[in-house]
Amino acid sequence: MKIDEKVYRTIWPITGADSPKNDAIFSVGIIDQTILPHRFEVKELTNLDEMIVAIKTMQVRGAPLIGAAAAYGMALAVQENVSDLHIEKSAKALLQSRPTAINLRWAVNRMQSVLAVLPSEARNQAAWREAALICDEDEQINHAIGQHGLALIQAASAKNTNESFNILTHCNAGWLATVDWGTALAPIYAAHDAGMSIHIWVDETRPRNQGASLTAWELGKHGIPHTIISDNAGGHLMQHGQVDMVIVGADRVTSTGDVCNKIGTYLKALAAFDNNIPFYAAVPSPTIDWTIKDGRSDIEIEMRDADEVSYVTGLASDGTIQTVRVTPEQSHALNPAFDLTPARLVTGIITERGVTNPSNLKQLFR
Ligand code: MRU
Repeated sequence: MKIDEKVYRTIWPITGADSPKNDAIFSVGIIDQTILPHRFEVKELTNLDEMIVAIKTMQVRGAPLIGAAAAYGMALAVQENVSDLHIEKSAKALLQSRPTAINLRWAVNRMQSVLAVLPSEARNQAAWREAALICDEDEQINHAIGQHGLALIQAASAKNTNESFNILTHCNAGWLATVDWGTALAPIYAAHDAGMSIHIWVDETRPRNQGASLTAWELGKHGIPHTIISDNAGGHLMQHGQVDMVIVGADRVTSTGDVCNKIGTYLKALAAFDNNIPFYAAVPSPTIDWTIKDGRSDIEIEMRDADEVSYVTGLASDGTIQTVRVTPEQSHALNPAFDLTPARLVTGIITERGVTNPSNLKQLFR
């Protein structure tokens, strides 16, 4: 995507002339998502520990981007030490950084299998090559999701009498959550670029506000009309005919089509179901966990620091980014980061292979 006329991906290797370091050594560039939309800053990560911190603190976030970051984390690790033991230890450390998005495990396992069969001297180059391949594939997959989703939007909007086609989305499943294009936002970019009149309801997505800060920023940079709403407003808008479709991303989808996504997704799915509004999840294949069937019992839901609920961060009038407490000092808070939307509430899953009813997901990838 372009930011002020410069093309960016969310993650990239840095080498040679771009890097203050020695030619042969790579580091990794990321966009620091913790300070968006107030500041756009690029960070250079030089070792595995820095990558793990970036994943844990959500400087990089979103399931597909977490996968790409883990792949580059493995490359940074191998650059330091190519031994089996070090690869094993690094994989373990990465796997513990964020538990819910399956893309992380998928990418780490893929890097391990590529490296395991190679002699030591070939491992460093192969690791950087494989991480780059994972990123290229992610971009292609998301582009295809965009095209399949576009067809859905076109078909649904043909029956629509409103001036604009209104889509509600939750959290940030845009290009910032992937290497490029996004998952839930890929069809939205495709529809806008095809000249359709669309308008997006952006859930703020407490506690970290990925909707209000990241989705709104992305859509604004692309010139897509959007309105930020509080997380509690979606049901009301649905009851009043102001939502034509819901599209969300996913952090892990079971083989039976249960969708685990950012906390609050389930409530949107319930409200959409009650109001007969189509509810789609945009899901790249690395987000599908073929090993599990029951999302409610088989997926570990990340519990994040309660301070994310008790405090909010924003831009103060003096231009500094500040964090302030919004809850009483003595009150406890709880912060589950994801929830599970059962397949029965999901109208369809948009994948790179096409759109399917959740119960037919397996057949689509056979
Ligand atoms: O906690 P985050 O910001 O990593 O969670 C992100 C989401 O839940 C996204 O909706 C999901 O990863 C889909 S990403 C394309």
